[in-house]
Amino acid sequence: MRHSSYSVVAVDRDSTIIGFARALSDQAFAVYIADILVAPERQRQGIGRALTAAIQSHYPLTTFHHQVLIAERGVDGFYRRLGMTPISAFGLTAFIRTSGGTSD
Ligand SMILES: CC(C)(COP(=O)(O)OP(=O)(O)OC[C@H]1O[C@@H](n2cnc3c(N)ncnc32)[C@H](O)[C@@H]1OP(=O)(O)O)[C@@H](O)C(=O)NCCC(=O)NCCS
Repeated sequence: MRHSSYSVVAVDRDSTIIGFARALSDQAFAVYIADILVAPERQRQGIGRALTAAIQSHYPLTTFHHQVLIAERGVDGFYRRLGMTPISAFGLTAFIRTSGGTSD
């Protein structure tokens, strides 16, 4: 977290942290959005949208070529609502190499 390029936190009235998101970027070309998390009891209240929108607007596409992220299963609809497009729609394939092997 310390070495993230940009982080946003959602805080409740009692100072409880209820959401978090961060981004990694070269500050010029690409932005990787990571760890969008909203407390289970506060989901579906617009917090995830606000966190993501804060990152998206911090790295405007008038300056940056692309914003990219890896969606967990079951959250495609959330990202589509925020203006993100599956990479396959561009005829592209994203590849990944991880320290944990395959996702299965
Ligand atoms: C995914 C997550 C960040 C969404 O945050 P949230 O605060 O619940 O989302 P919001 O209330 O801002 O929803 C914004 C829109 O997306 C929709 N949406 C939210 N979660 C969705 C889902 N899982 N599938 C489809 N649509 C979803 C909402 O209905 C809302 O639609 P609207 O434009 O009609 O109002 C949150 O559910 C979460 O933290 N999940 C667990 C961690 C996780 O999976 N993070 C993503 C890692 S890739």
